[in-house]
Amino acid sequence: MNSTLTRLRVWDLPTRLFHWLLVVSIVALIVTGKVGGDAMDWHLRLGQGVLALLVFRVLWGVVGGYWSRFCTFVPGPQRLLAYLRGQGSERDHVGHNPLGAFSVLGMLLIIGLQVGSGLFTDDEIFYAGPLIDLVTSDTVALATNWHKTWGQWLLLGVIALHILALLFYGLVKKKKLIPAMLHGDRVGVSADLPASRDGWAQRLLALVLLAAGAGLACWVWSLGGGTGF
Ligand code: HEM
Repeated sequence: MNSTLTRLRVWDLPTRLFHWLLVVSIVALIVTGKVGGDAMDWHLRLGQGVLALLVFRVLWGVVGGYWSRFCTFVPGPQRLLAYLRGQGSERDHVGHNPLGAFSVLGMLLIIGLQVGSGLFTDDEIFYAGPLIDLVTSDTVALATNWHKTWGQWLLLGVIALHILALLFYGLVKKKKLIPAMLHGDRVGVSADLPASRDGWAQRLLALVLLAAGAGLACWVWSLGGGTGF
């Protein structure tokens, strides 16, 4: 085994920007949703932005930097069991660990469900999701109920779990995960592990994928006759 330790690029710039833009957008969505009134204009715009971000992240999970790809971090049963028995390899501790992988997938899924249900939500006062006219009133009632109750609670729960897990790793396991999500690198890992490519070509590709996500979000909004942004 190569014992040389190095500084390794784990989170490429597009993954980091995705993460912090998602954090700001979700916080703003919660605030605007609670404030209501005119702030709902922003709630809908931000929802459209988050849809674009999610589409980007799914595509980036296929073609993005090595450690951001689903095939790198989503574990099979054997890898998960080995990790749970404390027999994980070093690579399990470099990117998302096998348990963290499920929390990432869970967060993306729950945020996706929240955006998806928002498209069909109607507050029966001034504001409605862009696609309510495409479905029956029963579906609108179901989506509205999900968006305002379970969807919201699950989202808050998964975010709380995410932050508690980060605190647990930092304070109990003395493993600081946050710096790598800021500057991109893990320090003191084996030099033979692959780095995430993070050059200008990758960043340009990320911009194209984000534009594709934004295009798709605008198209979804236009289906209901709305113009979106
Ligand atoms: C609205 C709140 C938040 C949401 C929705 C959220 C969502 C996510 C998502 C989706 C990922 C996976 C990133 C990817 O692979 O694309 C992630 C990872 C991460 N997040 Fe957050 N996050 C939130 C708040 C925070 C906060 C407040 C911090 C720190 C101050 C933070 C630090 C991190 C770190 C360090 C990782 C990487 C964890 C690892 O190494 O496995 N997040 N977050």
